[in-house]
Amino acid sequence: MWGLRTVFHSFINLSGRSQGISRLNWVVRSGFRDGTIVTMRKIRYNLLEDDASVKDVIELVVSQGPKDEPVHILDLDDVVAKHQNWRRKLPRVDPFYAVKCNDDPAIVQTLIALGAGFDCASKAEIELVLQRGGDPSRIIYAHTAKSIDSLVYAKACGINLMTFDGEIELDKINQVHPEASLVLRIRYDSANAQVSLGKKFGCDPEHEAPQLLRYAKSLGLSVVGISFHVGSGNSDHECFYGAIKAAKKLFDYAQSLGYDLRLLDIGGGYPGDHDKPIDPYATTINGALQRFFPLKSNVRVIAEPGTYYVASAVTLIANVQSKRIVRTPQGTVRELMYYLNDGLFGSFDWLNPRKYPPQVIPGNRQLVRSREQFSTTLWGPTCDSTDLILSGMAMEELQIGDFLVFDDMGAYGTVLATNFNGFAKPKVMVYISRRSWEQLELEKRNRRTKRKGH
Ligand SMILES: Cc1ncc(COP(=O)(O)O)c(C=O)c1O
Repeated sequence: MWGLRTVFHSFINLSGRSQGISRLNWVVRSGFRDGTIVTMRKIRYNLLEDDASVKDVIELVVSQGPKDEPVHILDLDDVVAKHQNWRRKLPRVDPFYAVKCNDDPAIVQTLIALGAGFDCASKAEIELVLQRGGDPSRIIYAHTAKSIDSLVYAKACGINLMTFDGEIELDKINQVHPEASLVLRIRYDSANAQVSLGKKFGCDPEHEAPQLLRYAKSLGLSVVGISFHVGSGNSDHECFYGAIKAAKKLFDYAQSLGYDLRLLDIGGGYPGDHDKPIDPYATTINGALQRFFPLKSNVRVIAEPGTYYVASAVTLIANVQSKRIVRTPQGTVRELMYYLNDGLFGSFDWLNPRKYPPQVIPGNRQLVRSREQFSTTLWGPTCDSTDLILSGMAMEELQIGDFLVFDDMGAYGTVLATNFNGFAKPKVMVYISRRSWEQLELEKRNRRTKRKGH
């Protein structure tokens, strides 16, 4: 379980073998150099000693030479830091992590230990959270179009909180899980989102929502709150103000029907890259809550952040596997094209084009390299010509076997990756610092004591 259990006892210190990793204790296992391993519920975590960092891990992976499969370095310290930051900046908003964004069990396990809730959208996501020890009362089944089978399963697991946005869904819930606590999802779209969800989910707040509340009332169902999702990859923090205001109007209408709504769910749509702080979002949201749902209203506020929690936690290490030089008819170089071991069918999301070049780590450090820049295209490995990572970007010349390091790769990467064309999905290596590991243990112990005290 959560015991800090060092599985391997014979550590080999590689100091001198590769600069930068000498502070880590590495163990040789199955021909693969790895860190001190701790396990919890069968997940293997590589433990980073105090002052070691992801940079050291990158050095280690690079020192092992190019591989066929891309590598994801998952830094759980980053997830822990994001959670603490959320708690500080949005103290009234209880985060329910959207599992769909990255369902790595180590992320789920870490967030359970930190006390976060979960937004699950399928039976498999619910199963994952429960298997990891999650509490059913800390799950919202946040899909407005649920299968009957999954509803039966949710009910059997004691999951009561769920969203809806239409009459037929209400009929289904009424038949299968009439005791459920229902959250009406309204449509409120950001004008600046990469993925607008309103086309598919959420009812019109003016015309449809009042009618749905009346219908739920006529069925005797328990509606407990209002939710919205402004869209993923949303760069407009101010849209939250309008969305919260629209929700407030429906709280008032529901009251006129005899409902006493107590839950506001402000969805996802927060940035997660390392250079995109949530501060402006927090300022807008906190201001809107104070105005429309002051503390004395006793309304509980939750959110469903996905991208925020995981985007910056994953660093991808890919390799250059092939290269083509495209020349003009006169013979001058027009463009350099590289074929990597990762692409759109792996870690990259075509809705989220790379705007800056990756860090380059030469495979052969002895080779003298020119500083000249060339127009560059990075392709993924498959035979599909849509498998394009970036093009027209100025980069130094790369060689076969060079490593390309992409940061902020944690959101909607592995969950969407396929084995198309037989290419390997990214291998995930999970890292956590001893400090964070011990903190998680402490949090878990505290919560256990608190539960016992109640
Ligand atoms: C219902 C719901 N909640 C939360 C999320 C997570 O959104 P984000 O990654 O933008 O935070 C999504 C993403 O599609 C979603 O559909």
